[in-house]
Parts: sequence; structure tokens; C-alpha cells
Amino acid sequence: MRVIVLGSAAGGGLPQWNCGCPNCQDARAHGPGRTQSCVAVSADGERWVLLNASPDLRMQLAARRELWPRGARGTPISAVVCTDGEIDHTLGLLLLRESETRLPVYAPTGVTELLEREWPVFPLLQAYAGVEPRVLPDGQTVGLADRSGATLGIACTAVPVARRPPRYARQAPAATFDVGLRLVAERTGGTLAYIPTAGAVDDTVRAIAAGADLLLFDGTFWSDGELRAAGADAPTAREMGHLPVGGPGGSLDQLPRLGVKRTVLVHINNTNPMLCRSSAERAQVEAAGIVVGDDGMEFEL
Ligand code: MLT
Ligand code: MN
Ligand code: ZN
Repeated sequence: MRVIVLGSAAGGGLPQWNCGCPNCQDARAHGPGRTQSCVAVSADGERWVLLNASPDLRMQLAARRELWPRGARGTPISAVVCTDGEIDHTLGLLLLRESETRLPVYAPTGVTELLEREWPVFPLLQAYAGVEPRVLPDGQTVGLADRSGATLGIACTAVPVARRPPRYARQAPAATFDVGLRLVAERTGGTLAYIPTAGAVDDTVRAIAAGADLLLFDGTFWSDGELRAAGADAPTAREMGHLPVGGPGGSLDQLPRLGVKRTVLVHINNTNPMLCRSSAERAQVEAAGIVVGDDGMEFEL
């Protein structure tokens, strides 16, 4: 299974339009920036599945030959899987509206509900080619398939993770609105654990990650009060449902014990000091054998 990190930043990207933190200033002055959270996977190198659909999808697709059309019209993108209903993980669906066929969109029940109602991306897209919502039942393994039902060679298990609903959701959805994914290539057994948002390293995370060849994990914030320290009127990382990487009880203490072959942090907020290559925080991550994810990283599992 091939895995490409199309975008490694959290919502806002790097630089974020209204942020003057050191990382954003540095990215404006020296580049390169980072695009928002999105991953592409493929079992055959031909047909691709997007894990989340970021607001930067247009640029992300233009940058990768694998994702270009093969002929006059068309796309190798065969399906999308949304792990949550956040704007940074779903706005890109609107950017796929030129599609000529209904795009299969896998998501947990609560996310499908959000996209039908409070953030009505699905109804809007009905005026275009439309999407085919496919619900991912909690904890059950589903074989991903393209629009015609042909298998894509990837088994997907979605498990609810500790989080809180999106800020725009006035009523917390009763159903699951945030999941981690365990994706297994049916031919090779290569296993990706994809958990871009998580408020804890708990039994759920341990189950999704067990024995995986690669874990892509929530690297949003280094510390709990980071956004506020950067001048934003914002809740803490934990209140937002993101376990900080650093500090006591942070993910850095726990991830090395999961027994995963490789762990890469993704969905990294622009304020996170580990983005700076010369920082003490970056050195700490590397000393733990963990990798700070970057746009364009590729893996073969
Ligand atoms: C999150 O991951 O917590 C959200 O995407 C934050 C946001 O941009 O609203
Ligand atoms: Mn996000
Ligand atoms: Zn910033």
C-alpha cells in the first residue's frame, strides 16, 4: 500500500493568513509552507483513496502526478474517507464538485449527519455530480470500493476516538463524529493506522495502532495553552480534543510504547514549536524515535 502525506498542517495551514507567530513569520519569509491535513492511499498505485479532503486539495492534487487525470477527463481518486466533520477535513469535498460521477464518501454516522445538515456539503453537492455517502459502522471492517462497487483492495476499520464535536455543531451529534482508521492492504497485509485527531492515547488508539507498519498521529499542539500564548482567544488543546505532544502525559511519553514500526505526527498546528528544526522540542521528538510529518512524505507498506 502506498501512502502519501498530501498535507501535514492542521486547520489554517502554515502560514495561517492571520497569524504572526514565529513559525508563520518564518514560513512567509523563507518558505516552504505546509498545506492542510490530507493523506492519499492506494493498494495498486492506480486507484487512490483520499483520507480527508482539505481546503488545499486543489494544490495538493496538482502537485502529485499519481493524482492527475489519465485522459481528457477523469480522476484516479476513487473514494474519500472522512475521519471527522471539521472544516479542514471536509471543505475539499466542495473542490471536487467538477467530478462527472458521484464520489463515494465514507464517514462515520455522525459525520454523515453533520455533512447532511449543519455543514450541508452533501446537499450542496447534489446540484453537481453529487456524492454517495457510505456510512462506516463503528468498529466494523469495511472493504473500500469505487463508485461501481469494485474493490480497492483496502480494508478499513473506523473506531471512535476521544474528541469533542466541531465548533459549528450547535448540537453534539449523538452518533460518532470522530474516528481513527485502521487500513489494511488486502494483498500485502501492510497496515496504516491513521489518527489525525485524538484527545488521548487510550485503549482505542492502542487497538487501532497495534502492530501497524505506520501510525500517522495527531501532532496538533505541543502544549495545552499554546494557542492562547500565541495571542488567540482560544480553548486549550485538551478542550479542543487534541492531546498535546509535549509535557507530562503528552503523546510523546506514550507513542513509543505502542509497538508500531514508524510513528509520524500529522495535523500539526502552525504554532507548534516542534515545526522549527532547530528547536528543543524537535530534538525531543526525534530522540523519541518519532518523526515530524511533512507535506509530500511517502511510505510503502
Ligand atoms: C480541529 O482539528 O480541532 C479543528 O479542525 C479546529 C478548527 O479548525 O476549527
Ligand atoms: Mn482539524
Ligand atoms: Zn502561526
